[in-house]
Amino acid sequence: MKTIAARGLSKSYKISKDSVVNAVSGADLEISEGGITAIVGPSGSGKSTLLNMLGLIVRPDSGEVLLDGERIDSMREGKRCRFRNANFGYVMQDFALIDGESVYSNIRLPMLYNKKIRFTEYRRRVHEAAESLGIADKLRRKPSRLSGGERQRVAIARAIVCDQPIILADEPTGSLDAENRDIVMDILLDLCKNKGRTVVIVTHDLSLAARCDRIIRMKDGRIAEENNGEE
Ligand SMILES: Nc1ncnc2c1ncn2[C@@H]1O[C@H](COP(=O)(O)OP(=O)(O)O)[C@@H](O)[C@H]1O
Ligand SMILES: [Mg+2]
Repeated sequence: MKTIAARGLSKSYKISKDSVVNAVSGADLEISEGGITAIVGPSGSGKSTLLNMLGLIVRPDSGEVLLDGERIDSMREGKRCRFRNANFGYVMQDFALIDGESVYSNIRLPMLYNKKIRFTEYRRRVHEAAESLGIADKLRRKPSRLSGGERQRVAIARAIVCDQPIILADEPTGSLDAENRDIVMDILLDLCKNKGRTVVIVTHDLSLAARCDRIIRMKDGRIAEENNGEE
């Protein structure tokens, strides 16, 4: 079971001597295993900050993040990194691939930080992840020689290669054309429907959100509303 929960999560940023932005204020939510959840809301409403707190990338000022009821946000740095690597696959907004390295090396990267995966497994896992995303013939290329849709698939392969149970994706289709947007969304849905992953995406795109099991709306740093994606 992998249920992720937030209790009273808040994060503010001091942006000048006398001004503070409350990026997220008092967010409570519970995301249970296996579904796909969309976090939607206007730009600046705190979606990325919330996702980054859930994924242990940003430390909350107050509140808690729990996985299966256990507090996970207060671990020390080293433990937190290992825990994140084992549990969360993160798909960054701008892919965040290393351009100087091959697609193979990019996908392999998170395994180098995972002590449970032996180096003899690297090849098989990279190939499996790449195959499941239809990019097995691109492994020797540099990301800069790929299309946007292919780069996003490399980023997703990297996010699943350690078998992380939870995939967090920040605007995973933000820079893609309509065709690739649908391909990437199909992949994320497949990960959750057929491969048992829990997927949380941040998106601007309401037609994508409508394909999710659940929609969480944010406004001014607060969770404004939730529905099941069918409205
Ligand atoms: N590192 C940061 N430093 C200062 N302000 C930030 C930082 N990250 C986010 N913010 C501010 O917090 C608010 C919420 O940002 P964000 O979570 O990125 O919203 P969204 O993803 O919905 O666009 C915005 O006003 C943004 O400018
Ligand atoms: Mg954002």
